[in-house]
Amino acid sequence: MNKETSTLRSLANIIVRAVDSMERAYADAALPLPSLDKPFNPEDPAEALAQDSHVATAAKNLVAACAQISATVWNPRRFVTNQGKGVRSCSPIDKPPTDMKSKYNMSSCLRAVSDFNVVDVLREAGENGASVNDIGAAVGVDPRMIERILRLLATHHIFREVSPGVFANNRMSSTLEKAKPSRELFQSRETRFVGSSGIAAFVENDGEVGGKCALYLAESLRTPGLVPFNLAYDTKETLFEWMEGPERSYHVNRFASAMQGTAAMEPGDLIFRGFDWSALPRESVIVDVGGGIGHESLTIAKKYPHLRVVNQDFASPIEFSKAHWKKCFPEHVEKGMVEFLGESTFDHLHDFFTPQSVKNAAVFLLRHIIHDWPDDRAVVILQNLRKAAGEETQLVVIDKLVPFASTGTLADSKMSAIRGAEQQVAEAPLLPNWGAAVADVYLYDLTMHLMVGGIERTVQGFYELFAKAGWKLVEIHQSPGTQMSHIVGVPA
Ligand SMILES: C[S@@+](CC[C@H](N)C(=O)[O-])C[C@H]1O[C@@H](n2cnc3c(N)ncnc32)[C@H](O)[C@@H]1O
Repeated sequence: MNKETSTLRSLANIIVRAVDSMERAYADAALPLPSLDKPFNPEDPAEALAQDSHVATAAKNLVAACAQISATVWNPRRFVTNQGKGVRSCSPIDKPPTDMKSKYNMSSCLRAVSDFNVVDVLREAGENGASVNDIGAAVGVDPRMIERILRLLATHHIFREVSPGVFANNRMSSTLEKAKPSRELFQSRETRFVGSSGIAAFVENDGEVGGKCALYLAESLRTPGLVPFNLAYDTKETLFEWMEGPERSYHVNRFASAMQGTAAMEPGDLIFRGFDWSALPRESVIVDVGGGIGHESLTIAKKYPHLRVVNQDFASPIEFSKAHWKKCFPEHVEKGMVEFLGESTFDHLHDFFTPQSVKNAAVFLLRHIIHDWPDDRAVVILQNLRKAAGEETQLVVIDKLVPFASTGTLADSKMSAIRGAEQQVAEAPLLPNWGAAVADVYLYDLTMHLMVGGIERTVQGFYELFAKAGWKLVEIHQSPGTQMSHIVGVPA
């Protein structure tokens, strides 16, 4: 038996063991494995089981091993050139796909079906689906284009071709539903995402803004000081400043909803897994720094209503935030337990590059903030918080943690002393970081660069950043099935 065959066999064995483990978990719970052909139902207990750490670990092994087998056996010229056109290796069982966002035909087709509310028309058509002529008539697009787009997606397990030219939603496509009758979606573009999971907003924002920016990666490498967004949108402003401009409320709304979508991609209890919010004394203040609509602090406050929240952001997101809190948690608003800082008066303008106005908070929460900025800017944000911190203040950064793609332990003994910092390593011959199963973190890293000049960081990256800003990194909490980590600091 030659070496290649034995690698294949080892990968196949990993697959068999992962399938056994997954089937056992579903059999023990007397639940069926979620079907790829049926629409996604987040309330289904079988979907909740997919978040269980055993099942999530088995899924991670399966995705990694299937992708590695594909790469091992496929024609290398077709494999490489197809990456540019948008091939996915194998459909993950644990969550909706997010890892095709940099692949242009997949991302542009996904954006098109979401933009034209095709998923919502198909939801109304039910499990037998609708013909491309009916879909085309409903959404106002040439049915021949609908057919080509849907067939490409169905070939990648997003939508199902029920019979020739007839398509229905499946587990993957249905994640793009917008929770409104299609008639309403066509009536008002501005409000299409309100009440949705945010996945559609994420795909549309990523497909449009990320897609345009991606075209300028090479050019930006020759233009120091400008990121692809500046070249693609012909502006010196950052994406966030640009969105504050006139007539950008559609973009702000979609971006805010997309950020909510990033939470919907993760286990629902993720925010509670890595930090004990219940231990904070009554009336403790959590400052949601750059909180957007404040969906994460809202989730915390709903579970622990004894906690106060201050949501800080620019004026436009704060306006959406007020409406969001009034709708989703009016009691907290009425009791004055949540404050919104972001009015565009100079008295209240909140900019995290200026001194922080809330002193001695219990927690400064920064979700998806630090990854938006290069080190020199991120240090300023953290320094401003450090200056406003009291002795007991804790810093909770929630961001993706970039795994090393090699084995080897953390060399610096100071870092290896941080609770939870040690990196898990996949079983050989899988890539040590689980390859395709964690590819989204590296794709996000690039997307951060494209859109805002930001970066996803390794443990070492966070350690050094915290130290420069006067914080000591004391704990990292990583959850199976997600790359989002709680990175906790205290005043140094
Ligand atoms: C990637 S979003 C994260 C939003 C939210 N924390 C979440 O996880 O959904 C970044 C947020 O930072 C805000 N932001 C950008 N620059 C800012 C600044 N200079 N001061 C305050 N907020 C800012 C943006 O408006 C945006 O809402």
